[in-house]
Amino acid sequence: MRSHVGANQADGHEDELLGKAYDSRLVARLWEATRAYRRVVLVSAFLFFPIAALELLQPYLLKVAIDSHILRADWGGLTGVAGVFLLTLAGLYALRALQSYLMQLTGQRIMHDLRHRLFAHAQKMDAAFFDKNPVGRLMTRILNDVEAVSDMFGSGVVAILGDLVTVAGVVAVMLAMNWRLALVTFALVPVLAVSAAYFRGQARDAYRGLRTRLARLNAFLQENLQGMTVIQLFCREGAEQRAFVALNSDYRRAQFRSTVYDASLYAVVEAIGSAAVALLLWYGGGQIWEGVLTFGGLVAFIEYTNRFFLPIRDLGAKYAVMQAAMASSERIFGLLDLEPGIRSGAAAARSEAPPIIEFKNVWFAYEGDEWVLSDCSFRVAAGERVALVGITGAGKTTIARLLNRSYEVARGKVLVGGLDVSEWDLTALRRRVGLVPQDVFLFTGSVEANLRLAADGAVRRDALERAAAVANARGFIESLPEGFGYEIKERGANLSQGQRQLLAIARALVYNPAVLVLDEATSSVDPESEALIQDAMERLLEGRTSLVIAHRLSTVQRADRVLVLHRGRVSEEGTHAELLRRGGLYSRLYELQCGR
Ligand SMILES: Nc1ncnc2c1ncn2[C@@H]1O[C@H](COP(=O)(O)OP(=O)(O)OP(=O)(O)O)[C@@H](O)[C@H]1O
Ligand SMILES: [Mg+2]
Repeated sequence: MRSHVGANQADGHEDELLGKAYDSRLVARLWEATRAYRRVVLVSAFLFFPIAALELLQPYLLKVAIDSHILRADWGGLTGVAGVFLLTLAGLYALRALQSYLMQLTGQRIMHDLRHRLFAHAQKMDAAFFDKNPVGRLMTRILNDVEAVSDMFGSGVVAILGDLVTVAGVVAVMLAMNWRLALVTFALVPVLAVSAAYFRGQARDAYRGLRTRLARLNAFLQENLQGMTVIQLFCREGAEQRAFVALNSDYRRAQFRSTVYDASLYAVVEAIGSAAVALLLWYGGGQIWEGVLTFGGLVAFIEYTNRFFLPIRDLGAKYAVMQAAMASSERIFGLLDLEPGIRSGAAAARSEAPPIIEFKNVWFAYEGDEWVLSDCSFRVAAGERVALVGITGAGKTTIARLLNRSYEVARGKVLVGGLDVSEWDLTALRRRVGLVPQDVFLFTGSVEANLRLAADGAVRRDALERAAAVANARGFIESLPEGFGYEIKERGANLSQGQRQLLAIARALVYNPAVLVLDEATSSVDPESEALIQDAMERLLEGRTSLVIAHRLSTVQRADRVLVLHRGRVSEEGTHAELLRRGGLYSRLYELQCGR
């Protein structure tokens, strides 16, 4: 058994498997993604031809300079060739710069579009999707995977195409110039191919191992940093550190292995390239004596040989980029292809629908057939205030989630205003049924921005201030350093529990839904804040149809009716007094809580 937290999360990175470096189906979809920039892509691909031509011209100019001018002491002619050489250099770098500019531009635009599509898609997904996909994994999709795809444009497939053009040109020129000498160079290609294939295979395995370990390290760090306060609370720093040391060393070893193979590949190709030059000098030197080859011809050949081996040397790295890009695009498209589990119904906004909610024989399970609700039925009439009670884990919060269709029921019906929630337009439904959740989620940003979040369109600042006043939140907000402009930290870390609850109530007031589901926070606050919260809640509930998931006695006492949730269904119902008199489950719960 592992002793550190997050042990489960670290496993199961099917994510990190690398497969083919080329998958026509994926490439077709990526090609589709470039649609808007196709002209730019084609232009930069076309630039490979003039670039290759200029590269091929340079060794030839060397040959001309040596044979026709240097060896004949022709100063004027040499100056002319040097001028042409300079011009080709300038042209080459200008074209390369232009091409790289265009490629980066396209790559980054495609990245931008993909990130946008992924985020927009994530917004459509339902709560069950987010239960299954941890935040860390989704972040990797939207940031790292997209980055890997863009690398393909910067240094992968596109560069490979360019290399192919250059190598083909070099081979043609070498054969045309002196086929015997060309064959001497090519004699080393089989040696090169075999050793490169070996090292590339090893490097690929090493890279795969590296990615898996990086993912583990990421997952571990994310959870540990987020839960740092809990780890400190239980004095688990030592154990967590040991776990981290193990993961960290694993990662270092994988990284080193990967570097060794990469470097070996590099070195082998370099060595073979040098061997080729030595062979050329030896064989070509003989040809010069025989008068078959000129001195300049030999120099040009050596230059061509370099241009032949260089792209081959870089092929390994580019191959790895392609593999990563394919694996990443597979995951990106996999996510984009995932249909949201909950789709909006067609019924248009129904502002006239009466604020009535009803559960009819509802069955629901988060997983398989572990029923949380089984045959649950109840009804809340217009303007009624109903309290829902039950032991922890009974399914109260679940009922709230089903009401605004965060999850889909398995059987039975949830009706709002007489209409099945699956028929409601989702936005209209969520405007109609407001939810104040058990755990208040606040965003980084000012207090005002957090209140404005709940507003429909533009709302004047004084409306927000009024809502805050009704929610008893104005007092503490104005005592904050910048009042409504006070910057809230991540998850509201710089506010107290009670303050967060008051803000949540103010936010619900701004939202102003006809039906309100209030999931009372279980965390208790000091008596003074408690009184403020209760008073604010009272005002929030006034004149609305409401279902209050109650944890406070006072809430239950003020409700028109109380529902007791037990074993997945409503087992008792009545007013607080009636239920007490009946002496059933409710009275037992009450006695437990009040210690009587
Ligand atoms: N996202 C989820 N995925 C899987 N199971 C869940 C999920 N949320 C809740 N559950 C399970 O569903 C059951 C009901 O949970 P629910 O949150 O509705 O309880 P509750 O009545 O609100 O409890 P509490 O009073 O503690 O808030 C629990 O057994 C819980 O483990
Ligand atoms: Mg709950």
